[in-house]
Amino acid sequence: MKIIMLGAPGAGKGTQARRIAGEYGIPHISTGDIFRANIKDQTELGMEAKSYMDKGQLVPDELTVKILLDRVAKDDCKNGYVLDGYPRTIPQAEVLDKAVTELGEKIDYAINVDVPDENIVRRMSGRRSCPGCGATFHIEHMPPKKEGICDTCGKELVIRDDDRPETVQNRLKVYHEQTQPLIEYYNKQGIVKEVDGTKDPEAVFNAIKDILGA
Ligand code: AP5
Ligand code: MG
Repeated sequence: MKIIMLGAPGAGKGTQARRIAGEYGIPHISTGDIFRANIKDQTELGMEAKSYMDKGQLVPDELTVKILLDRVAKDDCKNGYVLDGYPRTIPQAEVLDKAVTELGEKIDYAINVDVPDENIVRRMSGRRSCPGCGATFHIEHMPPKKEGICDTCGKELVIRDDDRPETVQNRLKVYHEQTQPLIEYYNKQGIVKEVDGTKDPEAVFNAIKDILGA
């Protein structure tokens, strides 16, 4: 099963992709997480990606596409994967389609987690992320059991550098200009499934399970 998560920054793509990965036993692949891991390790890729991410801009396709193709070629992707944050541009989608078609396969679902812009800024300001395992919490909607500490791995939670309000506004602008057109792109393939991302995380996940089946 090959799944793409679509949706604005902060719509809950990561939250739901983790759950899908756990439920269906497929890897969760987030290009944002891959970039953040590289920033933490201070790799050349990380330093270059950071210069775009901190401004709320997209990392150029040339860098992103190669990382994604390398990742989906790994053995654990044989039975499928859930992509979170890729593709973000039409050229990225075309590269993925080409790679999948060459294997005689297809993308099964593009799940669009729909959340209006008004809700997004509030969500981002309350987000706390684990620098260790990548788990995400929200100080009101999904608080960790112990304040400031990751439930999964016990590390201290942090605020992402790109969650400052000015950067969030720019990420939303970039989303509408460059990423939202992907809904139409995948609609033409007949694989878009809409879910209401304003519901609580459990309800959103139940809607997704209804789409994906047992
Ligand atoms: P990326 O890491 O992908 O960030 P994003 O798309 O901006 O999305 P977020 O991770 O901010 O949000 P999310 O939808 O995963 O929501 P989450 O589940 O955390 O990318 C970061 C940057 O990297 C980009 O700006 C770009 O520069 C670069 N990049 C990455 N991929 C790229 C690519 N392919 N091409 C080019 N550049 C790329 O939830 C958000 C908050 O809300 C959390 O606090 C969560 O707890 C809470 N929440 C979740 N669901 C609910 C709910 N149902 N109700 C209430 N609260 C909820
Ligand atoms: Mg995310």
